[in-house]
Amino acid sequence: MDVLNMFSDLTTCTLLVGLVIVLLIAVIMSKKEQSGIPPGPFAWPIVGNAFSMGGKYKGKRHKYFDDMRKRYGSIYSFYFASQLHVVLNDADSIEEAFVKHKSEFSNRPADSFWIVREINKYGTGIVWSNDDAWKVKTGLAHQILGESNLEDMVRAETKVVLDVLSQSDGKPLASQKLFLNATVNIISRILLGSRFDDNDPDFLRIIDVVSTAFTNEGTFSMLNVFPKLRFLPCIASKLRVLFDKVGTVRNYLSGQISEHEKQHTKDKPNDLIDVYLSKKDQDDGMKLVSKGDLVRLILEVFPAASVTTTISLNWALLYMILHPEIQKKCQDEIESVVGTDRMVHWSDRSKLPYTQATLLEIQRVASVAATSVPHTPTKDVVLSGFLIPKDCIVIGNLYSCHFDEQTWDEPLVFKPERFLNDDGNPTKPPAFMPFSVGPRSCPGQTLAVLELFVFFTNILQKFSLTGSGELSTDGNYAIFLSPPPFLIHAKSRQ
Ligand SMILES: *[C@@H]1O[C@H](CO)[C@@H](O)[C@H](O)[C@H]1NC(C)=O
Repeated sequence: MDVLNMFSDLTTCTLLVGLVIVLLIAVIMSKKEQSGIPPGPFAWPIVGNAFSMGGKYKGKRHKYFDDMRKRYGSIYSFYFASQLHVVLNDADSIEEAFVKHKSEFSNRPADSFWIVREINKYGTGIVWSNDDAWKVKTGLAHQILGESNLEDMVRAETKVVLDVLSQSDGKPLASQKLFLNATVNIISRILLGSRFDDNDPDFLRIIDVVSTAFTNEGTFSMLNVFPKLRFLPCIASKLRVLFDKVGTVRNYLSGQISEHEKQHTKDKPNDLIDVYLSKKDQDDGMKLVSKGDLVRLILEVFPAASVTTTISLNWALLYMILHPEIQKKCQDEIESVVGTDRMVHWSDRSKLPYTQATLLEIQRVASVAATSVPHTPTKDVVLSGFLIPKDCIVIGNLYSCHFDEQTWDEPLVFKPERFLNDDGNPTKPPAFMPFSVGPRSCPGQTLAVLELFVFFTNILQKFSLTGSGELSTDGNYAIFLSPPPFLIHAKSRQ
């Protein structure tokens, strides 16, 4: 009753409303006080613009980012809870920050996210580390990618997928995980030195953990900004299951490192763990890489290398299903250059310009990495007249670069020809940046491009594709932008 009486008291009520208004203004002023930061939508106290990404933008965060660009221009800001985010939306500003100002823009805001702090407890990989530790680990990754016979590995796993397609005999296959076993096995050969047998329980556990990357919200999980949410029973139980699964895989990987230590020789390294062990005692920089760091690196490369390529290949097949005339043109080109007696090789690439252009167009419209992994400036930087304050979160909106009307003629239309120059050779405009740009661009892009080419061309050489189910190009955005699941029918062409 007391409470009711109090609220019916007009004076108290007015006072309360007044107080709330004053608080609101104080919060807003404290944010805008840093004058010069890029414009953006009105941010609510505490939650900022976090809820604006729900509603019609649920699962479509890329559309939110693109709509804000249309409203506020090519550099804008918003708040995710109380974190200031600056979004760079065109090739010029992304180049300006990540390439020209690379000395200020090459760090990751690893401490800004609860989930990242949590996973970094056991060691840090490449994605979320900075400075020398990041350089040394990136060096290890480049070394093994450079020394492995990647094409042999990719071709071997392509054959496995071709068999799956062949056995399906035109019956529908679910798109989503069609390439996951293969891409996990490729990266497993590179990291651990071997592939898995189909029903190996460790394989199933890795696939299970890797698959969470299909739905994970990444840095835009509310848990990052409101970590207390982890105590809510429904969230707590899910987190426990996930952390248990990751823990099991982590133990498995530690075991793999121990096995490698027992058998290690100074011969040519066979995988990433070998590279690590060979360099460990020789190179001072290696002091920055603990075994825990190596485990974390392997754990993050597994999904980064497999889920991205799996999703890209889903988009590739979806567009071929939706554009049978383009599918046919690629098939004709492949048939006239390679024939049907042998597999398509990477070295055939230069003689397949139309197919190459088709793959570039697929990467553009798919924009699997719709936004870059967050960067953070190491000091205040002025970019195109805007202040980008030290420690804020900066993301490159690659999706908007790929659909910008200023750069692309009819960006919504699927047109491989746009990637061919007047001589009929493939060409990439600067606004094409599927792997982001600068020192923090995707370290695995050579492997990704090789995988896309070898899987795509060899499937088209052997099969004609049709589809059923939703067949929509209206993608869903978790960490990566993926097409809604659909069904693939592969009919042998021979
Ligand atoms: C992937 O591997 C799992 C586990 O062995 C198997 O059940 C599944 O059929 C495989 N999927 C494809 C598309 O090869």
